[in-house]
Amino acid sequence: MKVVATERSQVLAARIAGALGVVMAEARFSRFPDGEHSLQRGALDGKTVVVGSVVDADSLVQLLLLLDACRESEVSLVVPYMGYARQDRAFREGEPVSARAVAGALGRGVSRVVTVHVHKETVLQHFGAPARNVTLEAAIAEYIGGLGLTRPAILGPDHGALAFARAVASLGGWEAEHLEKTRISGTEVRMEAKNLDARGRDMVMVDDIISTGGTLAAAAKMLRASGARRVHAIAVHGVYVGGALDLLRTSGIREIACSDTIESGSSRFSAAAAIASALTR
Ligand code: R5P
Repeated sequence: MKVVATERSQVLAARIAGALGVVMAEARFSRFPDGEHSLQRGALDGKTVVVGSVVDADSLVQLLLLLDACRESEVSLVVPYMGYARQDRAFREGEPVSARAVAGALGRGVSRVVTVHVHKETVLQHFGAPARNVTLEAAIAEYIGGLGLTRPAILGPDHGALAFARAVASLGGWEAEHLEKTRISGTEVRMEAKNLDARGRDMVMVDDIISTGGTLAAAAKMLRASGARRVHAIAVHGVYVGGALDLLRTSGIREIACSDTIESGSSRFSAAAAIASALTR
């Protein structure tokens, strides 16, 4: 077995290969003069783990090309960040189910799929291959444990994130709570704390995605105004649209941490062990 990856997922793929005790196959990406992507891959074995986060249109095209180049091998597809998963239904008449379109294209011909904290597990059915979603509560709890916080509260920024916050909190024996989130626009949200006394305490917000940063920035400002001592922001996928990191840093967040599903300067914990474990089951 070998592991091969798109350009944006090389670091995580190498960690997965390390956890599996196998080597990486080379994948050299370049562009034709008109800007189209091209690829030359190295030698494969009979089984291949193809790793590619769908972070943008380029990474999606690279992943489709890589899957095609590996079609003679038995492919396990790992999509650490499954972009387009948030459009998991047509919210208005005339819209696509983007998650279905992307998963359907990626899943063709692969023997199985592994995702990480996919926005909704219902998306998995669209791959058309056996698919499993892994979650990173253990890696996040270990990271929080290393922060040296006193009596932290683990917060989901909305009711939907409470189960995630509880799962993380239970591993460290911490308290879990959720905030009330009202989305005002694509970039603006209002946050309220209903059942939480934040005064003098360390608050750790956990979410699946940081995109514009609007959700966690609004939450952090509210928590600081409510007397929280320190506020940390942890998400699985750091998409960081535009000035998201600046927005978060100026909203009173002490430290921002994400996993390596999307590699960046704020990747502090890895999805590799959870993915490798799913691949060996
Ligand atoms: C929403 O359901 C997600 O869990 C995230 O809270 C959301 O995608 C974060 O987006 P943003 O960073 O743009 O507020």
